[in-house]
Amino acid sequence: MEAAVHSLDHFALTVPDANVADQFYANFGLKTTPRGNSLTLETPNGLAGTVFEGERKRLHHLTFGIDAADFEAFRKRLEAGGVVLLDPPAEAASAAEALWFRDADGNLIELLAATRRSPREKSNMNVRVAAPGERAAPEGTERPKPRRLGHALLFSPDVLRQVEFYRRYLGLGLADRSGEVVAFMYSKHGSDHHILAFGKSERPGFHHASFELESIDAIGVAAMHMKSQGHTEGWGFGRHYIGSNYFQYVRDPWGSFAEYFCDIDYIPSGCAWQERNVPAEHALFVWGPSPPPYFFENVET
Ligand SMILES: [Fe+2]
Repeated sequence: MEAAVHSLDHFALTVPDANVADQFYANFGLKTTPRGNSLTLETPNGLAGTVFEGERKRLHHLTFGIDAADFEAFRKRLEAGGVVLLDPPAEAASAAEALWFRDADGNLIELLAATRRSPREKSNMNVRVAAPGERAAPEGTERPKPRRLGHALLFSPDVLRQVEFYRRYLGLGLADRSGEVVAFMYSKHGSDHHILAFGKSERPGFHHASFELESIDAIGVAAMHMKSQGHTEGWGFGRHYIGSNYFQYVRDPWGSFAEYFCDIDYIPSGCAWQERNVPAEHALFVWGPSPPPYFFENVET
């Protein structure tokens, strides 16, 4: 197989106040660790995010995991295509073997030789079906913790140009799209239906990062907790058509979103997956409340 990224390793944001991010993501169920004026976000699957302090909220970079054996193949492919390799930004520099560059929209991207974070098979959703004479409702409402980072969705002024860039240079496959408005990409090594997605906007921006919970009950309990902490805006509960996942979005303090999902489609390595161009009326969801107008707002300037 040609060199291809195996995972979305983590996302990195810049925000004006790391303490605000700490509170939000800790409430969301992530393990947060302040490091000077930055912050790391973790799940049981490892690092999921980094937050740096800066002037305004924006995407800092996305990091994708690659096999160390593919490192030179990626470097050659990027250089052959005229993609300029960059020094790591000082605040994100490490001893790790990594390639830094900008994608077709100018977003900063890192390819990191790293252990695989994508699951090797479809991750199960816990469903408790009571037998006659038993009770199905969960006992207690302990606050659920996301298992892992699933994907990120970026705004793009040219969704199909981004799809072509990530296909050509990162080896991602197009899972499904809806016209030129949204597109969803997966890893050929086997991954969720999407580890990266793009949504049409007049300019680039970070729309959401999405985290897996183990069940619908867990999503309900986690969403109630976020509401009780004042995070009342969002969208859900519902079920997406593209990717099939159940979803609940919570609006973050900067106007973008963090998503809880469970039961997302899985595309195994070697699968003869046929992408679909989904009509606009199915692009968002199968069922659920109508999305609020601010769901489509790109707050990054
Ligand atoms: Fe999502």
